[in-house]
Amino acid sequence: MIQLSPGAYRHATDRWGSFKRLCATLPEGSFAVVDRRVARLHPTLIPALKARKPHTIVQLAGGESAKTFEALEQLMAAGLSMPRSGTLVAIGGGTIGDVSTVAAHLLKRGVRLVQVPTTLLAAVDSSLGGKGAVDMTVRGRVVKNPVGVFHYADEAWLCPEFYASLSDTQIREGALEAWKMVASLDEELFRAYTRRAPALERMVKDARRLKESVCAQDPYEQQGLRRVLNFGHTFGHVLESVSHFELSHGDAVGLGMLCALDVGRAMGVTPEDVAWKVEDALHQGPGVLGRERTADLLKEASLKDVVALLSADKKTGSAGELRMVLLTDVGRAEVRDVTADVWRALWPAWSRGVRP
Ligand SMILES: NC(=O)c1ccc[n+]([C@@H]2O[C@H](COP(=O)([O-])OP(=O)(O)OC[C@H]3O[C@@H](n4cnc5c(N)ncnc54)[C@H](O)[C@@H]3O)[C@@H](O)[C@H]2O)c1
Ligand SMILES: [Zn+2]
Repeated sequence: MIQLSPGAYRHATDRWGSFKRLCATLPEGSFAVVDRRVARLHPTLIPALKARKPHTIVQLAGGESAKTFEALEQLMAAGLSMPRSGTLVAIGGGTIGDVSTVAAHLLKRGVRLVQVPTTLLAAVDSSLGGKGAVDMTVRGRVVKNPVGVFHYADEAWLCPEFYASLSDTQIREGALEAWKMVASLDEELFRAYTRRAPALERMVKDARRLKESVCAQDPYEQQGLRRVLNFGHTFGHVLESVSHFELSHGDAVGLGMLCALDVGRAMGVTPEDVAWKVEDALHQGPGVLGRERTADLLKEASLKDVVALLSADKKTGSAGELRMVLLTDVGRAEVRDVTADVWRALWPAWSRGVRP
């Protein structure tokens, strides 16, 4: 029998600097996909790209509408005549990065990809790890990321000027994902962060290093090792859905981390003092929303809806148990099976917005 060996990890080179300086290194004839809003907020961006005699520049509106088959088809059509040796450069948040990753994978059976994350969330998370995806509408409901690829970027350009035009909410979102990695993967860094809030660039560098260390062990998600990056995502996704995606992903993950700490405590996996420390740090540091927000959102949802969302999230086992990432200590996480009675017992406190 032929044994397929897992693919090797492809390390992307991180380059820090102004967009103009980094763009001067872009090969001529490249295909650029640009978030339209970013292009408007940063008027020197398009001229810098044009100076590199690009093959094409496509501007897309950022947001989930960029992750559709229509947008992907638009990119395919625009990139049709680019050479196989060409480079696709994706400039925008996670949505532009995700659809561009799929496009880079498909065009000419794979072209070079340069990621230029312009949101903090994209910088700390989505532009790293090789994943790209588009959404689908199935029976009137948007299903996130069912069609996707692994296609590792060759380079990531980290241009701090872009983060200057982000709102406080967008900064908080990215920061919560970064703190997620620190709280679940690196105790020493967690202590340093709680002593002194990290500068934005420091946080991006640390989060990228942590995510990369996880992805490098399981580059194509064949061994389940990347699951650890899902701390806070089980109930985070539920809250995101019941808010009809009004609650941002990062904020949902923030509240989802509080739920995961509660579940961990209830199961005796997360020691009480660890849960306190992390909850307090999430308030003091990135500024997780209050538990009353969880209560407000759960008012809108029935237990039945939540069960349906949890099973649709593909994180449940055959007996309906949840496969959740729980902290065993600060900086240490494990995937554990959580039976429905455990989280259902916490439900009344969550619905009242209090710590169980
Ligand atoms: N591939 C992965 O591993 C991975 C990981 C996490 C999340 N994701 C995906 O990432 C997406 C979310 O990414 P996101 O939060 O960056 O969202 P996004 O791309 O929708 O960007 C959010 C908003 O910010 C705007 N924006 C972008 N850069 C800006 C800037 N510099 N200044 C001001 N506004 C700016 C965009 O136009 C958009 O309106 C989701 O689709 C999610 O599924 C992917
Ligand atoms: Zn996330």
